[in-house]
Amino acid sequence: MNWGMKNRLSRIINPKTGRCVMLAVDHGFFQGPTTGLRNLGKTINPLIPYADALMITRGAIRNWIPPEMDKPIILRVSGGTSILKELSNEKITTAIEDAIRINATAITCSVFIGGEYERQSIENLGYLVDEGRKYGIPVLSVTAVGKEMARDARYLGLASRICVEIGADIVKTYFCDEFEKVVEACGNIPVVIAGGKKTPEKDALEMAKNAISKGAIGVDMGRNIFQSDKPIGMIKAVRAVVHENKEVEEAFKIYQDG
Ligand code: 5RP
Repeated sequence: MNWGMKNRLSRIINPKTGRCVMLAVDHGFFQGPTTGLRNLGKTINPLIPYADALMITRGAIRNWIPPEMDKPIILRVSGGTSILKELSNEKITTAIEDAIRINATAITCSVFIGGEYERQSIENLGYLVDEGRKYGIPVLSVTAVGKEMARDARYLGLASRICVEIGADIVKTYFCDEFEKVVEACGNIPVVIAGGKKTPEKDALEMAKNAISKGAIGVDMGRNIFQSDKPIGMIKAVRAVVHENKEVEEAFKIYQDG
């Protein structure tokens, strides 16, 4: 791995803990003005000091995030679909040159294993890995789950391993029973979990705790943080679980204290 690639990864994954809390706010690229992100800057700017990295699109960052922001950017460079259509029909929508202009620390796209456009989405990942390699920019691959797909270790393990084989540097997937099998399928490639739909805060913390205990290096969480009634408390609580190995009850208290 070249120096630039290592340096970028170590800006995202804290070298002291080997863990990371990414804040995912890229939902608008396919679901429009998601609850909590209608005025993205108002919700997200106060949370940035507590995030290790921000997963976002180029349009959102230019609209709502001040360029003085010093956290690493994981730039969503794919899109072309909406919740109204077949989601797997995704394309790369942002050139690597624009990712570099934005000073992205990593780039990301989704892979739709089992989706109608499975092959196209795998090709997107391969293209990004090649582009990223040219400039030392790591690629985070999201294992998107289609409507028909079970979120189990067999399916998520399959999807995650394909991302690894195509060359992803970080895999983002969902927590499931026997999650350790998904992590094992990824070899040395770090795995983070998405938060998924908003659930009660304690459940989301429990899921983060379980994921870490089964080998995830952190979370790339969105709605369970920015849709919380106490988003700052919630991101602090998630940090406590991820970076300090706090128990769920302790972390929940951090959330409650806001
Ligand atoms: C969509 C994404 C989102 O960033 C991801 O779903 C994370 O957000 P959440 O924790 O709200 O699920 O990658 O493909």
